[in-house]
Amino acid sequence: MIRLSERLQGIADWIEPGSRVADIGTDHGYIPIWLKQTGNSGYIVAGDINEGPLFKMRDHMDRWLEGDEEGIFLRRGSGLNVIETGEVDTAVIAGMGGLLMIDILGEDPEKTASVKRFLLQPRNAQDKLRKWLLDRGFTIADEKLVRESRFVWEILLVETVGAFGSPEDARTKANAYFDGSEIQYEVGQHLIRRRDPLLGDFIRGKQRILQEILDGACRSDSEEAMERTREIAEKMRSLERILNYVNDERGTDPLH
Ligand SMILES: C[S@@+](CC[C@H](N)C(=O)[O-])C[C@H]1O[C@@H](n2cnc3c(N)ncnc32)[C@H](O)[C@@H]1O
Repeated sequence: MIRLSERLQGIADWIEPGSRVADIGTDHGYIPIWLKQTGNSGYIVAGDINEGPLFKMRDHMDRWLEGDEEGIFLRRGSGLNVIETGEVDTAVIAGMGGLLMIDILGEDPEKTASVKRFLLQPRNAQDKLRKWLLDRGFTIADEKLVRESRFVWEILLVETVGAFGSPEDARTKANAYFDGSEIQYEVGQHLIRRRDPLLGDFIRGKQRILQEILDGACRSDSEEAMERTREIAEKMRSLERILNYVNDERGTDPLH
C-alpha cells in the first residue's frame, strides 16, 4: 500500500469516501493511487498541464496498482479543463501558488461551482486566495495545518454552494467567517479557533519572514518604505496576539 506524506494524507483524509475526484496538477499521482488502493473512490481524474508528470504517474501506477487501473483517468490539460461540468464532486488542487489557484477557479465559474468541494493546499498567496474565495461566496468550511519536511502548509476545505452568486449573499457568508481583523486572510479563522497544534510554528515562520522584510525596509527612509514598515509592524502585532492566544488557554480572543 502506498504511504502518503503527512501533507498529502492530510488532504486525502478530507476526501469523502465514495466521491468522484479530480486531482488537478497531480504530478506524481500519489493521491489518485491512494484513493484507488483504499477503495475510497472508484472515479478519479488525474490532470496535469505537463506531459512529464503524467509519464511519472504512469510509472507509479505500474508499480502500485499492478494493472488494476479501472476508474482512473489520466488527462493532460490546464486546471479544470480536464473535467466536464458536473463530472466530479471533489477536486484537489495542491502544491501550487494561490494566484494560479485563483486563475483555475475563476476560469469557468459554472464548472467550478459544479464541483461541490475543493481541497486547496496553496504554497503561497494564501491571503489573496482566501479573500478571492470569500468575496465570491465560497465557504471556507474548515482548515488545518500539516508539516512536510521543514515547512508547515495550510489545507483549506472549500464548499461551492452559493459561489458566484449575489454580492450580498457573499458578504453575509464571508462575515460569518471573517469577523473583522485583516489577519484572518493570512491566518485562517478555523486555524485560530481550534488552536491548530502547528499554529505556533506556522506563525513564528511568518514572523521570521516579516522581520527580515522589516530589517531591509528600515534602511530606507522613503515615505513608501515607512508606510510599508508601519503595515508590517501592525501585522507583527496581530500575529503576536494570535500566538499569545494559542499559548494561553485563557488568552483573550485575538480577533476582536
Ligand atoms: C509542485 S507540483 C504539485 C504536485 C501535487 N499536487 C502535490 O501537491 O504534491 C505542481 C504540479 O502542477 C502542475 N501544473 C502547473 N500548472 C498547472 C495548471 N495550470 N493546470 C494543471 N496542472 C498544472 C505541474 O506540472 C506540476 O506537476
